[in-house]
Amino acid sequence: MAPAVNEFKLNHAEKKSAVRSTAGQIQALASRGDQAKVLRGLMEKKQPGIIEKVKTSNCHTIAICSGKGGVGKSITSLNLALALAQSGASVCLMDVNLALGNIDLLCRLNGYWNLSHVVSGARSLKEIQLQGPLGINVVTGASGLTDLADCSEAVRKDVLGQMQELEATHDYLILDNGTGIHRSIRQFVISADDVLIVTTPEPTAIADAYATIKSLSSIESLEIQTLINQCTSAEQAENVFLQLKKTTELFLHAGLSQAGQIPHDMNVVQSVYDREPFVLSNPNCPASEAIFRLAHHLIHQNKTKEPKNKQESYFPRLWKRLLREAV
Ligand SMILES: Nc1ncnc2c1ncn2[C@@H]1O[C@H](COP(=O)(O)OP(=O)(O)OP(=O)(O)O)[C@@H](O)[C@H]1O
Ligand SMILES: [Mg+2]
Repeated sequence: MAPAVNEFKLNHAEKKSAVRSTAGQIQALASRGDQAKVLRGLMEKKQPGIIEKVKTSNCHTIAICSGKGGVGKSITSLNLALALAQSGASVCLMDVNLALGNIDLLCRLNGYWNLSHVVSGARSLKEIQLQGPLGINVVTGASGLTDLADCSEAVRKDVLGQMQELEATHDYLILDNGTGIHRSIRQFVISADDVLIVTTPEPTAIADAYATIKSLSSIESLEIQTLINQCTSAEQAENVFLQLKKTTELFLHAGLSQAGQIPHDMNVVQSVYDREPFVLSNPNCPASEAIFRLAHHLIHQNKTKEPKNKQESYFPRLWKRLLREAV
């Protein structure tokens, strides 16, 4: 059985290497105003423009994770789902938090039923789906699927059938995970096509991001990408990424790529208070531009990348892993 992420203790050299750029970050925080302007300038230069319409035949799964809590997984998952939906894709956003997730709170959805009720047979998957903005489907409590291991073969077959139908009717499945790679959600993450580790430039968040990368590094063919959130400049985000990349190469002998960066933006904070996703309420703010750029990157990456396993889609893949874990 795989160890939980906090069992992946970092040695002193790893920790020091991962958070080496700290001094520069403090300086960056001090001049946040000026750097925000520079960042906006850089972003405008790189702005890819309107995302082209896409219609992919295979559902692509994207797991959004982090080592430290509160770094921006849920706001990223929701706004990325909407950016992809705006490009013409059909998107399902799944909450895999072990405790209460908060996607519903972030976009004014009220739902009581979740996937554990589908497993218990109280509701069908169609009945628990919430209709979010731009037609995205929101499903909460995916971690309840782990209880399937204790169910009869007939129940498993029924639930898996419903999950496969969900997959077949969406272009993207975005998984908003809880903090760290807890044993019970590890399989959800490693079965995904793309794994995005969100971190902020805070040393503690970087160290926890590296511990998460370390806990996943033994999984063959898993390509991990970083998403640096709440950065004060593009340069700061680049430094955090390079530090993580260097540490990963040095200690884990593995590669690391960058999915994107999202600047610290008070529009994000306001959008949480308003319960209105910022890509809708403020599509031109710096954070929205960064999310559109991330969506653009993922769409283009998917076009050029072979799906993980053409024969087998996400849920059967996940299901096999959950069963193996249970025995
Ligand atoms: N780019 C940003 N700019 C400003 N504030 C941000 C940004 N990203 C996140 N935040 C702030 O961080 C808070 C936490 O974000 P979020 O709920 O997405 O984190 P999380 O990683 O999902 O947390 P948890 O680990 O509890 O699930 C938000 O409510 C918001 O106030
Ligand atoms: Mg969250």
